[in-house]
Amino acid sequence: MAMDAISVIRTKRDRAALTDEQIDWVIDAYTRGEVADYQMAALNMAILLNGMDRREIARWTAAMIASGERMDFSSLSRPTADKHSTGGVGDKITLPLAPLVAACGAAVPQLSGRGLGHTGGTLDKLESIPGWRALLSNEEMLSVLDGTGAVICAAGDGLAPADKKLYALRDVTGTVEAIPLIASSIMSKKIAEGTGSLVLDVKVGSGAFMKTLDDARELASTMVGLGTDHGVKTVALLTDMSTPLGLTAGNALEVRESVEVLAGGGPADVVELTLALAREMLDAAGLKDADPAKALADGSAMDVWRRMIAAQGGDPDAILPVAREQHVVVAPASGVLTRLDAYDIGIAAWRLGAGRARKEDPVQAGAGVELHAKPGDPVVAGQPLLTLHTDTPERFEYALEATQGSFDIAPAGTEFTASPVVLGRVD
Ligand code: URA
Repeated sequence: MAMDAISVIRTKRDRAALTDEQIDWVIDAYTRGEVADYQMAALNMAILLNGMDRREIARWTAAMIASGERMDFSSLSRPTADKHSTGGVGDKITLPLAPLVAACGAAVPQLSGRGLGHTGGTLDKLESIPGWRALLSNEEMLSVLDGTGAVICAAGDGLAPADKKLYALRDVTGTVEAIPLIASSIMSKKIAEGTGSLVLDVKVGSGAFMKTLDDARELASTMVGLGTDHGVKTVALLTDMSTPLGLTAGNALEVRESVEVLAGGGPADVVELTLALAREMLDAAGLKDADPAKALADGSAMDVWRRMIAAQGGDPDAILPVAREQHVVVAPASGVLTRLDAYDIGIAAWRLGAGRARKEDPVQAGAGVELHAKPGDPVVAGQPLLTLHTDTPERFEYALEATQGSFDIAPAGTEFTASPVVLGRVD
């Protein structure tokens, strides 16, 4: 049947469901360059405004998978388990989690991304380790995975190429925050990657794409349904992203904190979420008797980390980069810190140089924000609350604008209940 982009756009604009043929055609034609970016942008906006039903989302995802190659880990002797976060501020969990789950017996093929906007990217963080390489061939990836049990690297160009084009387009056309588009983007990559099981960390709150628990639950159940339909055992945790995870947001700052966790220390929320996700991954991989808390405490997760970093050219003993300039924000009053906003801190870290405004921009390894208190902590007027780090001090003023309204301090004695780290589970 002859197809054209305008009739596909009109169908969704007029709130009708796209047919299977329309979906297959438009994804294929866009990947080949026959449908223009401006036409796909219009269709994305119609999808954002008018939604898609479950059949359309499933077909859209299948068409994105079919746009490229599928990987195959069936030669590995261990069961595969992967994790994907929908993106947040200070979300360094992949760094301790992948070696931890590998130390417990699973193979962890972690294809990760770069940060854009206010959310950080795992590859940008790891690239602050001197020598570490994100780009591996499929053969190299399999060899690191086989040799160490875990690999964290960039998805190759052949994997879901439709998503690469679509995501870049959505990012600059205000169409990221659409549940059908987020679900199909994440799940097409994960299904094409060929993992046997998948744990999704769906973030909720100011620093996440999903601002409410209801939206996060809908996104989670859409993705769990897609994974299950493709034979991937998939579960999702809904986790808090109203305040940054841990005490750092920024590339080398977050690597340092992750190594603290692997050494048996680190902030309580990072440890709690790492262990919760590790237990889910090990369960989904059929390794129910593994004990991730023990693997953190006895150094076996750290051993895998060191081997994994070295296998990708990195020096696990190298001194990490430190930004040339620091600026301290002090508490303006004494009392209890009742709010420290994830989005504002993410924007500040980004403006300091930890993130990029355009895809081709470089990031500063040492830039970011260090937090000296978390919601619920007592603070004293004049004590350091945040330290801003950058190589380029002219960025401080713009970053400080973002931090200005980022926190609330209530009088001492004010009752305060911190949000739990894990807010829900969908399977
Ligand atoms: N992460 C992705 O890979 N895709 C999205 O659309 C959002 C977050």
